[in-house]
Amino acid sequence: MTSDSTGPAASYPPALTTISEDPLVRESIVASLVTAITPTESFYVRNHFSVVPAIDADKWRLKVEGMVHQPLELTFDELLSLPSVESVVTLECAGNSRSYLTPPAEGIAFGHGAVSTARWKGVSLAQVLERAGVSEDALEVVFHGADTGEEEEDGVVYSTELPYSRSLPVDTAMRPELLLAYEMNGEPLTPDHGFPIRLLVPRWYGMASVKWLTRIEVVDKPFEGFFQKRRYVFIDEGVEDGPVRMPVTSLKVKSVITSPRHGEVIQPGDFVIRGFAWSGEGEVTVIEVTTDGGRTWSEAKLLGDSNPNAWREWKLPWKATVPGHFIFKVRATDSSGNRQPMSIPWNFRGYANNGIHTLAVEVPSVKK
Ligand code: MTE
Repeated sequence: MTSDSTGPAASYPPALTTISEDPLVRESIVASLVTAITPTESFYVRNHFSVVPAIDADKWRLKVEGMVHQPLELTFDELLSLPSVESVVTLECAGNSRSYLTPPAEGIAFGHGAVSTARWKGVSLAQVLERAGVSEDALEVVFHGADTGEEEEDGVVYSTELPYSRSLPVDTAMRPELLLAYEMNGEPLTPDHGFPIRLLVPRWYGMASVKWLTRIEVVDKPFEGFFQKRRYVFIDEGVEDGPVRMPVTSLKVKSVITSPRHGEVIQPGDFVIRGFAWSGEGEVTVIEVTTDGGRTWSEAKLLGDSNPNAWREWKLPWKATVPGHFIFKVRATDSSGNRQPMSIPWNFRGYANNGIHTLAVEVPSVKK
């Protein structure tokens, strides 16, 4: 973590691009992601339905039921009275960078900005599940949000009352870093980010972090909900017995350049290339940057301390000596040996694109 990741969120003008008003989808402008903690007003938003639930925290209840020894119904105040945990966590939408896929993939056309980092505060999910006592025969934990709506696929409309629900294997749900979060950057969650409580699943793509949480259900069968089986799956269709659906889970190793931005004019002289890198499958260990379109690569310096749940800042000094156009790229490797691929892996819905961030800059022959 860098020093500015431990303090309060910097005050910074909102830096979001609206991709869709209905449902609300906004992405961060990558060149504006200059602080390790993204100010809440610049944090990307991904809703699936038109209506953002307006929840009265006094009336809100969190039910924990199903295969538990002691079903619970917690009020907001009861949850707040439990021991709290704070942690800096990066969220990235599974559809981030989708628009760079060729041929185009189905879904919201995100650039590279559906990724942001906040300091979250909440209650350990494991603590609440332990209190309820998960049965030995349980297989998964299902998280239900308060939002409902309609989705269409292949001409079939899935109920107007379709809830946003997702499940996790029991082992994953019991991991200590999972939070029932009620604060983001030192303030109560905003309605867009899941007020009053959201699940936070560090190191997994954002779809797992269910917002506006109202019910936790422990089950002994695989959950078959729309957003579990029809979305957020890699579909392998060339298989004789029908398509195989593999769930989208942990964040693939990835990096972005936040400075310079694409098209920037860099004056001759010294410049510092900067960005962030993250992985849900290990620590980021190496950042390589090219400024000549991939002919040569230099290792960037990783800044601050490693936090397994959040991105890490990096920088590389560069000297602009000759005029011309230069292609910059960044490639990250993690401690499990995963390295960003040079060619982008394609899948029908364009999930988990960890292709290499590439941009072009200009060094003018005379000062512009
Ligand atoms: N939870 C509910 N209830 N409804 C949603 O539409 N979107 C999911 C997840 N949780 C969603 C949700 C997706 S796909 C992502 S990427 C994250 O929330 C986005 O969280 P954010 O809007 O706070 O950035």
